[in-house]
Amino acid sequence: MLSEKDFICQNAPSNIIEKGSFQWSAPSNIALVKYWGKKDRQIPANPSISFTLNNCKTITKIDFAKKDNQNNFSFDLLFEGQPKEEFKPKIQKFLERIADYCPYLKYYHLTIATENTFPHSSGIASSASGMAALSMNIMSMEKALYPGIPDDYFFQKASFLARLGSGSACRSVKGSMVVWGHHNEIAGSSDLFGVTFPSAIHNNFKNYQDTILLVDKGEKQVSSTIGHDLMHNHPFAEQRFSQAHHNLSNLKTVLENGNLDEFIQIVESEALTLHAMMMTSLPYFILMKPNTLEIINRIWKFRNYTKIPVCFTLDAGANVHVLFPENVREAVLQFITTELVGYCQNGNYICDTIGTGAIQIL
Ligand code: PMV
Repeated sequence: MLSEKDFICQNAPSNIIEKGSFQWSAPSNIALVKYWGKKDRQIPANPSISFTLNNCKTITKIDFAKKDNQNNFSFDLLFEGQPKEEFKPKIQKFLERIADYCPYLKYYHLTIATENTFPHSSGIASSASGMAALSMNIMSMEKALYPGIPDDYFFQKASFLARLGSGSACRSVKGSMVVWGHHNEIAGSSDLFGVTFPSAIHNNFKNYQDTILLVDKGEKQVSSTIGHDLMHNHPFAEQRFSQAHHNLSNLKTVLENGNLDEFIQIVESEALTLHAMMMTSLPYFILMKPNTLEIINRIWKFRNYTKIPVCFTLDAGANVHVLFPENVREAVLQFITTELVGYCQNGNYICDTIGTGAIQIL
C-alpha cells in the first residue's frame, strides 16, 4: 500500500533537460456515489465512484525552460490563448501544495496554456478536468527527468497530485469508472488517489450516456470548498458517511450484475442526499433551481410511463445529468428535445458518454 512519502522525489533527476513541452487532455467526471466532506489535505470523508466523461474535457499544454533562481515557482498562465491573471492564485497554491512531491518544478519557468471543450461559464466545473490535465503534464515532466518510473506509479502519482488540486480531479486520470477513498470491498482503493473500478463492468453500462442539461450557467452561490467544510459539525455527517460506504457496496454489485432498477435507485438517492446535506447544513443553502425540480419530475413521469431506464444525478449545482444506457439513446434524446430543453438556460445541453481518462497529445 503506497503512502504519501512514496510520492516524494528522493533523488536528483537522472536526466538533465533544458526545456521541453507536453500536452494532455483530461476529462470531467460525474460521481454516482458522492464525495461531500473532507479531512485535511483533501482526504475524503467517504469513498466515492464516478463515470469518466468523454467530451467535456480540458486540454493543457506545458512548456518548460530551465531558469537560474530555483527558490520560487515561476509560471505564465494562458486561458484560450490569452493571459488570465485571475486563474494564477489557484495554480500558485496548487504548485505550493505539491512542491515537496515535485521539487523539480522550481528548476523551470512554466508556460501553462489551457482550454476547455465545454463553454466557460456553462456551470460545468472545470476544476476536475483542469487539475487532472495539469497533473498529467507535470508527471510527463517527471518521467522525462526520471525515465525509470513505472507506468502504474505515473498514473497513481498523477491522480495523487490532481487530488491535491481539487479532490474529485483524482477521478479524472485513468479508467471509465473510478473509485476514490478507501472501501473495504474494493481492492486497492485509497484515500490518496483514484483507482480504476477493479471488477468487470456489466454490458449494460458500456457506453453509458450522460446528457448534461444546463439549467443555470451562473457562478454558484456557495463554492464546493465551503460546502465540504460545512460537513464538519453537520448533524447527519456520520450517518451520511456510513451510508456512502453502503451505497458503494451495493453499487459495486449492481455494476457487476447490470441491475438497472437498483442502479437508478442508488444514483438518484445519492444525488438527492448530496443536496439534502446542503439544505441541512448551518448555514443552509439550496443549489437546485425550480427548473432542476421540473426536470426531475419529468424524468420520473417519463420513466414510469415508458419503463425506459433513464435517471438523473446532480453535482454541486443546478444542472441535471441525465444518465441512460446506449440502447435507449434515441428515445431519451427525443424526450429531452421535446420535453426538457425548455427548462435549460437558452436551450443548452451537452451530450456526453462514458470515456476512458486522460490522453497524451504531445
Ligand atoms: O472536487 P470538489 O472539491 O469540487 O468536490 C466535488 C463534489 C461533488 O462534485 C459534489 C461530488 C463528487 O464526488 O464529485
